[in-house]
Amino acid sequence: MTRHRVSVLHGVNLDVLGRRPSAHYGHLGLTELEVKVKHFASELDLDVAFFQTNHEGEYCEFLHRAGEGADGLLLNPGAWTHYSWAIRDALEVAALPAVEVHLSAVDEREEWRRASVIRSLCLGAVQGKGPEGYREALELLRRGIEG
Ligand code: DQA
Repeated sequence: MTRHRVSVLHGVNLDVLGRRPSAHYGHLGLTELEVKVKHFASELDLDVAFFQTNHEGEYCEFLHRAGEGADGLLLNPGAWTHYSWAIRDALEVAALPAVEVHLSAVDEREEWRRASVIRSLCLGAVQGKGPEGYREALELLRRGIEG
């Protein structure tokens, strides 16, 4: 049986993860986070591929063609989570099982971080668990892909 393919989509400012406030994001850089996520994915028998951009349109365009290369999506759009209706609509176009993930506890931070425009299109959201949260999000996604 072929392994399920998961695309992990990092959004704006995640490329400089290692330079962001460690109180919220810990000390890992993006490459180190990806090494961990790859490890979680292989434990769950999933194939994983990564994408990051600081350009909202590129994130949307990736979502438009996401179905060509993935069976499910793990999304951390960064700040776009809270206001990008364009990304919300592009995720709808992708029409794939999706899970939202955040390193920090967005619901316990500033008021504006509590809103998520993508949440209603996602199977669930994992937040505030740091890199470990990606493991939980992948488990949730795998269940969603398998239906
Ligand atoms: C984040 C939370 C967002 O509010 C923030 O803008 C980010 C990262 C997280 O992973 O905790 O860039 O998505």
